[in-house]
Amino acid sequence: MGKKSVYIGLITILIIVIGGLALFKLTNKQSQTNNNQAVSQFSVPNIPVSEDLLEKFMISEPTSTESINFQQLQQTSTQPQENLYTLEEVSQNNSKESCWTVIRDRVYDLTEWIDKHPGGEDKVLSICGKDGTQVFERKHGGQEKPEEALKRFEIGKLRQ
Ligand code: HEM
Repeated sequence: MGKKSVYIGLITILIIVIGGLALFKLTNKQSQTNNNQAVSQFSVPNIPVSEDLLEKFMISEPTSTESINFQQLQQTSTQPQENLYTLEEVSQNNSKESCWTVIRDRVYDLTEWIDKHPGGEDKVLSICGKDGTQVFERKHGGQEKPEEALKRFEIGKLRQ
């Protein structure tokens, strides 16, 4: 074998090695970009889905003000509406058959309590159809039992 053919052989090997390296690098790069694409296709931040839709399907925590308002709306809509009464309406319930009173701007229907009151019927009857705040507070203000008993009869608030 002559020197010439040795050189040719070496150059051929060099070309094959360099070519192989170049080819390896190229395919490696391509698979990396493929991987990136795969990640970007399936990772949550890049999915072109609106936050609203994500919330509906409970994928993410609700963060937008819109969704918070929606939650508040749901909460309030399940709560019973607060009734408002005028003093005029209260004054029409001034008998043993129907006894309403106002104490600290809240309206109470005391009808059921009249014949159960330990202090006597007349005391409760004296505040039917009117604002009984002063009378009640003078006798029972700050007393635990009467205050607790009163809570059970609340039907709404006084319309100011
Ligand atoms: C408006 C709603 C009222 C409620 C829910 C109420 C509730 C009560 C309760 C729970 C007691 C028993 C207290 C105890 O055992 O310690 C009581 C007793 C009594 N209440 Fe009333 N009360 C009301 C109005 C009045 C009024 C307007 C008067 C008088 C102006 C009055 C005069 C008395 C008296 C004299 C007693 C007897 C025992 C005591 O002196 O504390 N109450 N009441």
